[in-house]
Order: sequence, then C-alpha cells, then structure tokens
Amino acid sequence: MGDKDGVHVLLVSFAAQGHINPLLKLGNRLVSKGLHVTLATTEILRQRMLDSKITTKEKNSQIHLEFFSDGMSLDFDRKNNIDYFLEQLEKFGPKNLSSLIETLSVNEGRKFSCIVNNPFVPWVADVAQEHGIPCAMFWIQPCSLYSIYDRFYNNLNQFPTVTNPDKPVDLPGLPLLEKDDLPSFVLPSNPFGGFPKLFSKLFRELEKVNWVLGNSFYELEKDAIESMENLHPIRPIGPLVPSILLGKDLPSDSRMDMWKAEEACINWLDKKPPSSVIYVSFGSIVVLSSKQMENIAWGLKNSKRPFLWAAKPPEHPSSDGSGELPTGFLKETEEQGLVVSWCPQSKVLLHEAVACFVTHCGWNSTLETICTGVPVIAFPQWTDQPTNAKLLVDVFEMGVRVRADEDGMVSKGEVERCIGEVTEGPKAAELRKKAVEWKEAARAAVADGSSDRNIQLFVDDVRCKAMKEL
Ligand code: UDX
Repeated sequence: MGDKDGVHVLLVSFAAQGHINPLLKLGNRLVSKGLHVTLATTEILRQRMLDSKITTKEKNSQIHLEFFSDGMSLDFDRKNNIDYFLEQLEKFGPKNLSSLIETLSVNEGRKFSCIVNNPFVPWVADVAQEHGIPCAMFWIQPCSLYSIYDRFYNNLNQFPTVTNPDKPVDLPGLPLLEKDDLPSFVLPSNPFGGFPKLFSKLFRELEKVNWVLGNSFYELEKDAIESMENLHPIRPIGPLVPSILLGKDLPSDSRMDMWKAEEACINWLDKKPPSSVIYVSFGSIVVLSSKQMENIAWGLKNSKRPFLWAAKPPEHPSSDGSGELPTGFLKETEEQGLVVSWCPQSKVLLHEAVACFVTHCGWNSTLETICTGVPVIAFPQWTDQPTNAKLLVDVFEMGVRVRADEDGMVSKGEVERCIGEVTEGPKAAELRKKAVEWKEAARAAVADGSSDRNIQLFVDDVRCKAMKEL
C-alpha cells in the first residue's frame, strides 16, 4: 500500500466481538472510498484468535491490523473483573496506543490524518489531541441511545431518580420510555459501575471529537437523529454489517470471529421447510441464569417447532449452572432442534428456513435481522438492549417482546406464546411485511442513499483537513 502518499485513518476498538466487526466494516467502506486504514485493538484479541485457531478473512483484506497492550497479563479474567479491567485499560491504553502511533509514523511512515474511536475507549480522543490528529467517534449502538445518553450525562432532561425510580421518560424523537425500556446504565439501580463512568466521560467531552458517526440509517431513526441536530449531531452511515446481508458478497469484506462457527447447522437448516425454524441467540456476552435457560429450553420444546439455538457455554463456568442447558434437554429434543455453541449468524438469518429470531437485541444482531427481513422475539437483558427491544417492537414494528414475571424471569409459557404470535396469524404476516420493508430501506441507504452520502461527506472532510496539514 502506498501509505506515505495516501490519506490514512486509524480505527481503535475495544476488543469485543460486537465492537470490532462494525469498525472493520467501517474500514472496508473507507478503503472503498480510497483511504488507507489501520485497525488497532488490544493484544487479548490476537491471543484469542491464536488460541481458537481462527482464520479470519482479515488476512486478505486491505486493513492493517495492529495490537497494543491493555496493561494486564493475557490470562487475566477480564470479564469477571470488568471494573478493574476498564480502569487498567484507561491507565495503560493511552500510553501504549500513543507509542504505537509514534512507532508506525517513525518506522513505517504511516501518518494518520484521522483517528476513529469507539464509545468504549473514549480516552482515544485525548491521544488524538496529543498527536494533533482530528478524531471521530463511531457510535456502535442506535442513534436513539446516543440521544438518551447525551441528554442523561449532560443533565438535559429528567430521568428516573432514587426517589422516583418508575418515572417514564419523555424525550424528543423517541416514544415514551418506561423504566423497562431504558438502558440499564441510566437507571438509579444501575449496578454496572465501570461502563457508565466511561459513558459519562465520553458525553461530557463530546467537543473533543470532530465528527460523530452512527451505525444506523436515517430512515430507521429519523426522528431521534433530527432531535440531535441542535445538540451534538450524529451522522448515520450504516448499517455496517457483513456485505452478504446487503445482497453482495464482497471478497474484501473483513470480519473477526472470536469463536469458530459450526457451519454444519446450515446443512441442518437446508432440510427444514421454509419459514419453519426458530433461531435463538443471546450474542457474545450475555450469560443467562440456569432457570432462564431452562424456561427457554422447555418453551422451545413445547412450541413443537424446529429450532436452532446458538448457546455458547460460559467461558468461566460457575457453580450455579448459569448459561448451561437443562439436563436431558438435548436428548429429548434431538429430533426437533439443534444446539450449537456459535453459528454463522449471517448465513442463518439469510436462510429461507428461518421463521423468526429470538434475540437479546444486541445492536449488531438487530441490524442483521433488519437487513434480512426476519421478525423478532425481543428478549433483552441489559445496557442498550431494553431500548433496542422497544424500538424493534414499537417503532420498527417488526417483532414482539417477551414479558417477564414479577421475579424478572420469562416463563416457558411466555416463550411459547411469543413463538405462536410471531409465526402464525395476521399479526405474524404484518410483522414479516414490515421487516421486509426495513430490509429494502437498509439496502437502499448503503447502496447510494442517505448512509452512502454521509460517509462520502466524512471522507471528503477528512481529505480536506489532511490537505490543509500538508
Ligand atoms: C454487545 C452488547 O451486548 C450489545 O448490547 C451492544 O448493542 C453491542 O455490543 P453482543 O452482546 O455481542 O454485543 O451482541 P450483538 O451486538 O448482537 O453482536 C453479536 C455478534 O455476534 C453479531 O454480529 C452476530 O452475528 C454474531 N454472532 C452471534 C455470531 O456470528 N454467531 C453466533 O452464534 C452469535
């Protein structure tokens, strides 16, 4: 690559499956617009790829991969010590990233004209400032969440308080949000210390970033996006998902998987009738309690429909059986369903045998189901997922949401009821129709519509700033 002559952008990501991949897709888009791209993340990801012997499409892509240390040993259990891990990352990440930028510049002549961070590494904006490089933030959740957090962390609107925890929240461009529709970070009961601290820094220092880009598209979240115009505008450039989901299968498509996908499930799907299979996945992070696993398991069995469940066993098994399937379930359902630990989700969602998606509503899964026109059973857990569920059901109108009992548990009867609602009768047909309309709108936005125009504006602006520096 002629790096020394071209405009080069550095993308910096938190090392998680749902964070790296949208940034890689952004990298692909920037490369297609003629920029050079490097993606940097922490060394734990390189280690994981080596351990799992994962071959990534990455190697063939035009994106340089670089790694820096988060200051901790590779075998440290980051997931179960998340607050400590985030503190260490914030302490050592800036120094190590800064040295990497310096080394690439001195040794390889790779000088960056723009750095793009993601919301979970907000300190990257300080590193960019220190090096005199303009910075963009790539918001990887819905623009609606960007609006909620900006208003929350900058005290612009009223949110539930300890004395009034059930107060509904009325924000411009969004439906009325009840307590259960709000992201867990803004609730007074919020138990997740480190992440809200990160977001607080991010939203109070938004002036440090020159651009905010969003993984969404204008038509999908028009009102929320417009409501931010006079606050801190966000430019949607998505959906940034695997190109196969947008009707193309580009050989240059970059992707990293932290776990090896069990491709055999596609052969299994091939033998099922069209629109018959219930696909279930809770993404890469969520670990459900053993009781919740049990209720989902028997709900699926009782539905009598074929199902494919991607149920990744917990990396650090606990004594209470969290994340594990109930005893006897696999045997009892071997004729009806298939359980894998990790599946090729894009191929699954594109498969004509799939009838609906039981999802935790992570934003990547949400965009992927939108791009394939598959209706959902929204089963949110934490962070942005409750709000994503509200959007899927009440704004995008392409699914139903499970109702939890008093104890917060979703019963097997409720799982069965939702499966019936999404797969049979006039409501099911309406949901599918709406989902297919969103699929068309998503493809149009990235082909030559609103998202493509926004990304072109960003690229032109980066180029213009780079030229002024010469
Ligand atoms: C995290 C947060 O939990 C989520 O709330 C936030 O919106 C994004 O970051 P995660 O829980 O991993 O993400 O969910 P999601 O955003 O849906 O990303 C999961 C990714 O893994 C998707 O791209 C999905 O296609 C992929 N996947 C999942 C597989 O490829 N195979 C599987 O078996 C399951």
